[in-house]
Amino acid sequence: MTSYGDDEFSYFLRKSFAKSMGYSDEELDRPIIGIANTGSGMVSCHGTVPQLVEAVKRGVVSAGGLPLDFPTISLGEPFLNPTSMLYRNLMAIDTEEMVRAHPLDAVVLIGGCDKTVPAQLMAAASANVPAIFLVTGPMMTGNYRGERLGACTDCRRLWGEFRGGRIDNAEINEISGHLMPTSGTCMVMGTASTMACVSEALGMMLPGGASIPAVNSDRIRHAVETGTCAVRMIKRGGPSPSDIITPRSLQNALRVLLAIGGSTNAVIHLAALAGRLGIDIDYYAFDKLGRETPVLVDLKPSGSHYMEDLNKAGGLPLVLKELSSLLHLDCLTVTGETLGEVIEKSPISWSQNVVKSLDEPIYGEGGIAVLKGNIAPDGAIIKHSAATPGLLKHRGRAVVFESLDDLSDRIDSLDLDVAADDILVLRNAGPKGAPGMPEAGYIPIPKKLAKQGVKDMVRISDARMSGTAFGTIVLHVCPEAAIGGALAVVQNGDEIVLDVPKRQLNVLISNEEMASRMEAWKEPQPHSGADRGWLALHLSHVQQANRGCDFDFLSIPLNGSKTPTGR
Ligand code: FES
Repeated sequence: MTSYGDDEFSYFLRKSFAKSMGYSDEELDRPIIGIANTGSGMVSCHGTVPQLVEAVKRGVVSAGGLPLDFPTISLGEPFLNPTSMLYRNLMAIDTEEMVRAHPLDAVVLIGGCDKTVPAQLMAAASANVPAIFLVTGPMMTGNYRGERLGACTDCRRLWGEFRGGRIDNAEINEISGHLMPTSGTCMVMGTASTMACVSEALGMMLPGGASIPAVNSDRIRHAVETGTCAVRMIKRGGPSPSDIITPRSLQNALRVLLAIGGSTNAVIHLAALAGRLGIDIDYYAFDKLGRETPVLVDLKPSGSHYMEDLNKAGGLPLVLKELSSLLHLDCLTVTGETLGEVIEKSPISWSQNVVKSLDEPIYGEGGIAVLKGNIAPDGAIIKHSAATPGLLKHRGRAVVFESLDDLSDRIDSLDLDVAADDILVLRNAGPKGAPGMPEAGYIPIPKKLAKQGVKDMVRISDARMSGTAFGTIVLHVCPEAAIGGALAVVQNGDEIVLDVPKRQLNVLISNEEMASRMEAWKEPQPHSGADRGWLALHLSHVQQANRGCDFDFLSIPLNGSKTPTGR
């Protein structure tokens, strides 16, 4: 409570201001449920937030609570410059502090677009006020000349056709009006869908909430039930985020990430979330989980369906049921029940072709593998379920781009010395290098090769990649080039060997040569604007990808005692 040195006066004053909004004494005695409102004209994926806020309020009031919504920062992928990832920690700080500072008994966190749910999860873990998640839900699919389309896997595929000269200007412009026909989040298994599924698997969301389309009336009913559940949490005395987000529930979330063929970005976000609680996500133990967790969900970009199909098939509860022998079923959820009890109550399965069984998965291993080698001593990852199988073991000549500017200046040059079996390398695109670790890892195929029909090449960077993208793409190389990681000294013409089955990524130079190049390495020039404001704070405190790119002063130092990847 705001303090004026006199508690009774403080309470009196707060109540007077509350009454100025028309609330009665009876209403002010109810549990207060905050609703983090991320509606924004800048975030197309959150277009339905006003409706969802009203629906949550209905649920809160009917259960005997008082709902009060408040604004927070809202992050939309397409419109933030230079990248939304630069602002994830800012949103996490804003949300955490507003949840902690306001007089809330519980909070409903409404998010959807890629960075919003991770930021809110991190905030919930740190504030540790009872919290429940409500995502805006996926868009419906579009249609163009009889072909079903979804954002943004089909955006990238069709843009590749345009770059290759197989689609003209008029047609690509027409297509842009059919890729995203409704409000909601990208409807493939991109980062937004992945983080929604991961939140449900963690137990922070009501069952089934991840997949309900944004414009389906079930989404409104789910929002009402979310409001009701928030009040029940208070009447029941919890659980709080720290009761729900534990090493065991994080391991469940990682299993689900692998089984749904989810976004590589979720590895970063889960590492940041775990870091908020002093829990380590060990890359190599995560890789071990990947070897024993098959991909069960047949959604783009790894498979062929869309989120509305997953919803019709039974949603995440069906995935959890199929995976149950690999999950910790005693983990607590926002309902007050264990995950095992939630799974037992889930509807019976019916005939469908979106969620496969453990015995007949669509891919024998989890969708993401962790690589190591002299280019990435602290690890790198690859979404091998969305890669070209023939490139998973590949040796090629490095074609190096120094930065994002260098990439855009030269990638389409007819003079670029590049062949289809070369390996494209992009550096200085990591958490400090870019800055903000943009989704630049999906390096475009050089135009002259695209025109010859080349659709995939091995690509390596310290950047991230959109969860909706596909290809043989190595990401999150750690440590990044901008702080002197080995990626900084790879040279044009070096031979690089990628061996995903053996989890190896190496440049074929001697240790002595590597040491001498490192000795000669010079730090890149500082970014413009790096001496003040948010960018200065980011550059001073952001950690590497294997620590989730969270700020060092926001995560709890690891003591090695908690790991979500040990059974
Ligand atoms: Fe918001 Fe894809 S742009 S979820």
